[in-house]
Amino acid sequence: VKKQIALNPRSRLLAALLSCAVCMFNAHAAPPAVQVPTPLNVPDTIAERVQPCVACHGKEGRATNLGYFPRIAGKPAGYLFNQLVNFRDGHRHNAVMNQLIANMPDAYLQEMAAYFAALELPYPAAPSGPATTDVLAHGEALVVRGDTQRAIPACTQCHGAAMTGVAPAIPGLLGLPRDYLIAQFGAWRTGQRHAAAPDCMARVTEKLDTGDINAVASWLAAQPVPARSRPATSIALPLPLTCGSDLR
Ligand code: HEC
Ligand code: HEC
Repeated sequence: VKKQIALNPRSRLLAALLSCAVCMFNAHAAPPAVQVPTPLNVPDTIAERVQPCVACHGKEGRATNLGYFPRIAGKPAGYLFNQLVNFRDGHRHNAVMNQLIANMPDAYLQEMAAYFAALELPYPAAPSGPATTDVLAHGEALVVRGDTQRAIPACTQCHGAAMTGVAPAIPGLLGLPRDYLIAQFGAWRTGQRHAAAPDCMARVTEKLDTGDINAVASWLAAQPVPARSRPATSIALPLPLTCGSDLR
């Protein structure tokens, strides 16, 4: 049974990868029609089965420096699992991701999430891009202190003082490309990305204007990832806004 579940996703992933050059840059690309034979003599381990993921997400799940792919290694398992479920069930939109994991059972998504969450790797700096000192200072202020007058909580109140996330379901904010960060706020704003209701990130996004988003993303992407980048195990409660994701 296990073998069967494992091979189908793999052929689907390989087929999708062959059309990768097109689909990565074209959200409306047609699904790949390529027939790929299942490779023989490949050990059937989770590390082997996630090889197609690594082509985009970087070696062993680290972010590549191509600019857009988020790192997935070392992120909290519950967070990764929630994202995979959201892509599969259409609550979060990305043509490639939606297609790759369509129909994969929860247990398999859980297995992949656990695999990537357990990887502890040093991260290369994320691509950041040009930003003035003023922009960076504004970004830092919002991330670390928030803005009480505008009722914007500090990002660190939920994502952890070290910004490496909080197990099991709040992701870290470091090591993510600036373009990826900006795109996520865009996705929350346009309803392309949802988390379980109440979706606290959607509420945070409503409070930020484009200048704020640019500043926050520029500052975050310019921060080095600490050597110990594991998510924190607990956070001061209550959180400044209620989040529907299962955070226990
Ligand atoms: C063709 C490239 C590609 C492949 C192959 C791919 N991904 Fe992705 N993945 C992406 C992109 C692009 C995003 C960001 C989508 C967005 O903007 O929301 C993403 C997002 C994700 C996220 C959310 C990350 C976060 O921080 O929220 C997870 C988890 C993920 N992918 C897991 C996987 C797994 C597991 C596989 C293998 C089954 C895989 N991906 C294969 C391109 C890819
Ligand atoms: C009230 C708690 C809370 C606050 C405050 C908060 N976040 Fe989040 N954030 C979350 C949760 C929970 C998630 C996971 C959502 C999901 O499951 O999709 C998240 C996800 C994210 C993601 C997606 C990460 C990825 O890898 O795709 C980004 C980016 C992000 N937050 C940035 C910020 C920034 C920047 C701020 C400050 C301006 C902020 N957040 C403030 C709770 C919070």
